[in-house]
Amino acid sequence: MRSGPLLRVENLHTQFHTERGAVHAVDGASFTVDRGEIVGLLGESGSGKSVTARSVCRLEAPGQVVDGTITFDGADLTTADESTLRQIRGNDISMVFQDPTETLNPVFSVGEQIAEAVRVHETDDRQRLLDFLGVPPFRERSAWADAHKRAIELLEQMDIPNPKSRSSAFPHEFSGGLRQRALLAIALASEPSLLIADEPTTALDTTTQADILQRFRALRDEQDIGILLISHDIGVIAQTCDRVVVLYGGQVMEAGPVESVLTAPEHPYTRMLLSCSVRNRAPGERVRSVEGRPPDPIGGHEACPFVDRCQHATSMCREGTIPMTDLDAEHRLACVEAPLADSPESSHRRTPPTPDGGEQNDTM
Ligand SMILES: Nc1ncnc2c1ncn2[C@@H]1O[C@H](COP(=O)(O)OP(=O)(O)OP(=O)(O)O)[C@@H](O)[C@H]1O
Ligand SMILES: [Mg+2]
Repeated sequence: MRSGPLLRVENLHTQFHTERGAVHAVDGASFTVDRGEIVGLLGESGSGKSVTARSVCRLEAPGQVVDGTITFDGADLTTADESTLRQIRGNDISMVFQDPTETLNPVFSVGEQIAEAVRVHETDDRQRLLDFLGVPPFRERSAWADAHKRAIELLEQMDIPNPKSRSSAFPHEFSGGLRQRALLAIALASEPSLLIADEPTTALDTTTQADILQRFRALRDEQDIGILLISHDIGVIAQTCDRVVVLYGGQVMEAGPVESVLTAPEHPYTRMLLSCSVRNRAPGERVRSVEGRPPDPIGGHEACPFVDRCQHATSMCREGTIPMTDLDAEHRLACVEAPLADSPESSHRRTPPTPDGGEQNDTM
């Protein structure tokens, strides 16, 4: 029987070859997603969130996964052939892309597009053979009818009003919120065990956003789906996720349970994101930096990517990639200089000596 998390990403490196040199978009990221949990991938624009998501589905082209391992349900996706990957994408992993225009086809009705996704999923080997031979008119018709019925059910599950009549509408007849729900319906048509949603609510008003985030929580609770939810918005992550992975310069800076990382952040980068978000952010506004710019991804980082913006940085931070250390069983940090024990907001200590000479790494 399978053991371990549903998705395990280890030391992922994805690069783009450009005239200026290799863009190290993902530069050694590691994280996991399990069934029945929502993991948030949080970071500023350009931190590598979308490239990470696409790499997990092995849709990183024109980029290339140059190192690391992606294991899904025990299968190594980094070495899998294209037909296995297609099979996994059509059945087990679904992705809602950041740009919805990439997914919805303007010339087919929304219902047809969902039905097509259902049919692709449900087409068994025999059906594929019959399709190949061009034979099966009766079976084909009933398969389509069933797929349409299922499409309407999925629209209903997504709280789309009048799902039967709306299923024959075209994407341009849908509002942004309805389009996003239709995309989710397409993604769920294959009954995936892992759903990757890249900024699924960014363009939506707060009420629609809250409804969609509620759908994610329901999927987790009712269908035991693992969800990787990508967002630059700390509020979205805080409302929806169980764990959060903070990405910067293609590397994981901090990861752990949402309550622990967002209420007691230890990495100077996470603290910066939070201070920006809480004090200065208007609703819907993207995360802004306090000062400085994200690092140039050309050539990658031989130091902590945050070093030039970090007020705690020392020469040690420039001496190579910073390894992740465990602050407790679930909270991990890639920082050697954050003044954990000195900071009033810190809930951790960096293994200071106890009076009897032992060590502690407990919460305060
Ligand atoms: N096709 C490409 N060619 C070259 N570089 C690319 C390409 N796609 C992405 N990149 C680079 O990879 C890095 C990570 O990009 P990515 O799209 O993953 O960022 P992101 O965190 O999703 O940002 P946003 O919040 O704006 O969506 C960026 O430096 C980006 O410029
Ligand atoms: Mg993105």
